[in-house]
Order: sequence, then structure tokens, then C-alpha cells
Amino acid sequence: MIIHNNEKFIVNNEFATEVEKGLNDKQKHISPKFFYDKNGSRLFEEICEQPEYYLNRIESLILKKSVNEIMNMLEQNQISIIELGNGNSLKTRILLRPFLSNLKKVCYFPIDVSLKMLKNSIRDLSREYVNLQVLGICSDYISGLIKINEFIKMNDNIPKRKLIIFLGSSIGNFDPMESVDFLYSLRRYLRKEDALLIGIDLEKDKTILDRAYNDRKGITAKFNLNILSRINRELGGKFKLSTFEHKSFYNIQKHRIEMHLESKIDQQVRIEAIGKTFCFKKCETIHTENSYKYSQNRLKEVVKNAGLEVKKNFTDPKKLYSLVLLKKVSDTTKS
Ligand code: AVI
Repeated sequence: MIIHNNEKFIVNNEFATEVEKGLNDKQKHISPKFFYDKNGSRLFEEICEQPEYYLNRIESLILKKSVNEIMNMLEQNQISIIELGNGNSLKTRILLRPFLSNLKKVCYFPIDVSLKMLKNSIRDLSREYVNLQVLGICSDYISGLIKINEFIKMNDNIPKRKLIIFLGSSIGNFDPMESVDFLYSLRRYLRKEDALLIGIDLEKDKTILDRAYNDRKGITAKFNLNILSRINRELGGKFKLSTFEHKSFYNIQKHRIEMHLESKIDQQVRIEAIGKTFCFKKCETIHTENSYKYSQNRLKEVVKNAGLEVKKNFTDPKKLYSLVLLKKVSDTTKS
């Protein structure tokens, strides 16, 4: 704990270290993983309800339409479903319901860094579905997968066939190289009969994308600015939120939405936990998020480079979004 001018705050070291590093770079940046404190997670749920933010809504529609086909493609009457980042499990229910009514045994393993989120969803799901076995793991995705993989191997009564799900276009927040690395590391926990289901936001008209990240009610702006409030709360930052503006636009060349916080004035901001003052020029930005959008070809390229193959691509009539069912290509090395 650091005590400064009668202010007390518990320093989250990773947060402080990354903020210091990011604000010292030429193009200032802060990782989007820091969006999701309690307030940020609530704001993200609100974003998902905005009419302009089509991603989650379309993903749910595709999931509803394709769940039976997904289930049939897995060709098993027992399954272990592993969800990366279980969120509030709303979409998981769309998947679980038909699996539970048609298969002999379904085990569900959500992995999430938020213990509270996990506890709530395990409690609700266990109440709702008495024949569902749920075991939540509070950790990062890969460490969680390692543990679950061991657990499945060691327990004879747990279904061996796995379906790993990674929804909500979360993969879009990795750059394409990181996506290949991430998928390649998931591949390690897949056998040839297992499958991976991921949600991908597709490239589309710039105006639809710009609108989705600049909703009329200003919820995305609040979500973006919350990262500065979090620095103020947790690191003793002195950011005046009214002197920064949410900027979000589709960068066509880089195939990504970029989110920034732009300083409206020349200013200096002290962050006590870091013990430094940072200078901002008028119009200078802090880059807070990239959200990559894929064409079918670029998606196939990423999947191929990760040693996986698309078994089925489920999409909506307007081709806004894709749910892809992937399997492991045997004996490949990452290219
Ligand atoms: C979590 N992630 C997939 C969201 C996205 O669309 O990239 C985060 C988000 N940022 C602004 N709006 C939503």
C-alpha cells in the first residue's frame, strides 16, 4: 500500500507497470484488458444492449439457428464444453439447452478471471439445469485449459470429447499475429475429434462499424473514459475526464476499429502510484483498443496458420458476423 498526501490506495502492480510503460511510449497506449473493472464490465453489458452494437445480438441469432447442426457435427452423446471468458453465460444457455435435452451427459467448464462472475453463473446454471455438471476455473484461459484438460483425463466419468467456445468476437481484440499464437496454443488441448467454436466479427461497411463503436447514448464513450477513472481510483491518478474525448473509427488499411482517448488541451497529469507526471499535447491520444474485423479469406489464413481448419462457417443473411467451427489439422507446424 502507498500512502500519499493522506490518500490511500492499494497498488495493483501489473496495472501500474503497464500504465507507466504505455504512457511513456511515443503513441501512448493502455491495454484494453484494463477496461473490465466492476464499472467497466457493467458498461460493456450496456454496450451489448445498444442498437448500434450488433455483434452480440447477431451472434446469439446465429447460435440459435446453428446449435443443432453444431451438436450433430460433434457426433457424440457426451460432451465437455469449455468456455473461455464466460461473461454472464446468456449465450451459453442457447448452447446448453439443446445439448442437455439431446445428449446423455454434458459437463460445462467456464474459465474466467472474474471470480464473482464465475460464482454467479455457476450458481444460476446449476439451479436452472439440474442435470448439468459445472466446474468453474478462475484463471487466465491457458492455465485454466491446462487444469481442465488434466481433470478430464483423470476422471473416467467426465466426457472426453471437448468443445471449446470463445464467443463475442473476443479474438478481435488480439492483433492477427497474436490470434494465430492464441489459437495455436488452444490447438494443443484439442484432439482430432474435439472442436473449437469462435465468434468473429466480419469486415463490412465502415459506417456500420463506426456507428457500433460510437453509440448514440454515449455508453462506449463512458466505457472508454472509465479506464481513466480506474487509474484515478486505483493508482491515484489526477485525470480530469472532461479534458479527454472518446474517439473511435474504422481503420480500413488495418482492418480494425481503433479506440482512443484524445486530450482536448495541453496538460500534465500526475499519477501518484507511479510517482510521475505525464504530458499530453492538445489532440494527442491514448490508444486504448483495437477490434479487428475479418474477411473470410483473412480468417481462413489465421486459422490455417494456427494449424486448424474451418469445418463449418455459420453466418447471418447480411454477413455481418461469423461463428466458425474449427478442428485440428493433424501433424502441422505453425507457419
Ligand atoms: C470485448 N470486445 C469483443 C469488444 C469489441 O467489440 O471489441 C469490446 C468493445 N469495445 C468497444 N465496444 C465493445
